[in-house]
Amino acid sequence: MQDRLADRRIAVVGAAGGIGSAICTRLLDEGATVYGLDRQGLDTMQQGVTAIEMDLTDEGSVAGVVERLYRNDASPVSLVNSAGIVENDVAAEVMPMDLFDRVMAVNLRGVYLTCRDFGAALLEHGGGAIVNIASMSGNAVVNVPQRQSVYNSSKAAVSALTRSLAVEWGARGVRVNAVSPGYVDTPLNALKTSMHGEWLDRTPLGRFGRVQEVAAAVAYLLSDDAAFCQGTELLVDGGYSLV
Ligand SMILES: NC(=O)c1ccc[n+]([C@@H]2O[C@H](COP(=O)([O-])OP(=O)(O)OC[C@H]3O[C@@H](n4cnc5c(N)ncnc54)[C@H](O)[C@@H]3O)[C@@H](O)[C@H]2O)c1
Repeated sequence: MQDRLADRRIAVVGAAGGIGSAICTRLLDEGATVYGLDRQGLDTMQQGVTAIEMDLTDEGSVAGVVERLYRNDASPVSLVNSAGIVENDVAAEVMPMDLFDRVMAVNLRGVYLTCRDFGAALLEHGGGAIVNIASMSGNAVVNVPQRQSVYNSSKAAVSALTRSLAVEWGARGVRVNAVSPGYVDTPLNALKTSMHGEWLDRTPLGRFGRVQEVAAAVAYLLSDDAAFCQGTELLVDGGYSLV
């Protein structure tokens, strides 16, 4: 594995999750100093990751982590936003607004908040990169048979946020991009066995994605290999959104 990310500090939000933990492993392998942020599962994070509790829905929690990361070290901390929650079993016409609010609080407000605070620090400390995990469900497709109107809306907003920040911050040394996975082999999807046939039939590559394949795309966008990528959304979906 090349040392593309040597001397880089990178915070991964949602680091205890299926995709987040694979991202941490990949960034460590590429030589980065990795901070794993999550509201739970800190003891499950791999050796080499500095695990820090953070709830991305809480302004004080996010501000406290940013303050801690820069307290004794002024070098920039890049950011990966992999936290997210899903609702996919409620028809839009009966959507309880507290469920809508819960999903948006993490997937949009929380991602906005971490981009705001980590982004402000990057602007102040010499620049860096942000990668948001959006989804093919944001722009490319409306997934079936599940009903996930709130999730889809939240992920479309993450894509729009990514592009907006890319324009606002590009000239000041902060690159902002997104990775949009298709169906990935995580515990979350493992539960929905009744839908697997339909999902895989619609995927030209005929299989689930691996968490490592999402992590590789994230590492690329963080690295100088992607120095001219700004506001891009890299689909990693096995071709699902083409069909
Ligand atoms: N798994 C897939 O097939 C798939 C497909 C497309 C997009 N995605 C996106 O990829 C990202 C990661 O998904 P995953 O499959 O690893 O899910 P996951 O549920 O395994 O991981 C999500 C992590 O986010 C953390 N989190 C949730 N709320 C939080 C909060 N308030 N504060 C801090 N951390 C919080 C959870 O504790 C968990 O560790 C999500 O944004 C998801 O929407 C996943």
